[in-house]
Amino acid sequence: MQYERAEMDVLTGKVAVVTGAASGIGSAMASAFAAAGMHVVLADRNEQGLAHVLETIEAHGGAGIAVPTDCGDRDSVGALRDATLAAFGAAHVVCNNAGLGGGGALINGRLDLARWREVMNVNYFGHIYGIEAFLPILLEQDEGHIVNTASRQGLVSSGGNAGYCASKSAAIALSETLHLELSSIGSKVGISILCPGGVRTGMLRPPEELPADTDAETRTLLTQRYRDAAEPADVAALVVRAVLANRLYVLTHAETIEWMTARTDRIAGDVAALGTIR
Ligand SMILES: NC(=O)c1ccc[n+]([C@@H]2O[C@H](COP(=O)([O-])OP(=O)(O)OC[C@H]3O[C@@H](n4cnc5c(N)ncnc54)[C@H](O)[C@@H]3O)[C@@H](O)[C@H]2O)c1
Repeated sequence: MQYERAEMDVLTGKVAVVTGAASGIGSAMASAFAAAGMHVVLADRNEQGLAHVLETIEAHGGAGIAVPTDCGDRDSVGALRDATLAAFGAAHVVCNNAGLGGGGALINGRLDLARWREVMNVNYFGHIYGIEAFLPILLEQDEGHIVNTASRQGLVSSGGNAGYCASKSAAIALSETLHLELSSIGSKVGISILCPGGVRTGMLRPPEELPADTDAETRTLLTQRYRDAAEPADVAALVVRAVLANRLYVLTHAETIEWMTARTDRIAGDVAALGTIR
């Protein structure tokens, strides 16, 4: 994706904080912001991965720091804010991106509730902690942008993945509410909600890396999902564009809109069939 030079100048010298930066979409967003001349603060609980990403960014002329962080822990995200301010004195673009899947299907009687809670804690509360830690800085500056990584599975649910879908729906509701509140006070602080379809990251491995005991149906599904998936660098370029254009929604796959239309048609169909009270 090409940018106008003047557009990129807006970001030069500013500070981007990216969680989940040790891998996948987070690593790509950090690299894209660094390439735009921003100082980057890389946060993740994978310290080795963080060091590797920072090394790569520095090798390309970028500058930043790595801050080991557990995004599901309020104090740890507070410490991330403190480390950011100590290093750069400001934060401008804050990407609450760390996330994970799991929890299992509802119908097979084997719910992994510990994992379900962890998914909710990182994917939803992690965003709350990020907002709590960084929003006051952005409001004080009256400048900046929050990027919350949700998923298209937060817009349209899919089977077998209720814990993840619920956490991403919650993250979207949180972000939309923040957008309304920021608009209501005329704030210059922006927010974007990233709702990717499949992206080739640690979360979506190539078919040849699937465990040998993966059943045929799952293998076919994941092979097709991988084939249709986006590259992290392309997702990152779209996010940079959304920050520059101050757009709320960032979708990677066009068919998501069709799925959402089918969902609202279904709702409207049921309401038409039943009628409403008023
Ligand atoms: N890959 C996809 O197909 C896809 C689709 C939709 C949404 N997403 C979302 O994109 C985001 C990034 O995921 P990805 O696809 O790059 O996967 P990834 O597994 O490559 O990266 C996720 C990163 O988050 C980190 N992380 C997990 N829990 C953490 C915690 N408690 N504290 C700090 N770091 C933590 C991991 O260590 C990892 O580096 C996630 O929120 C994910 O739900 C991904």
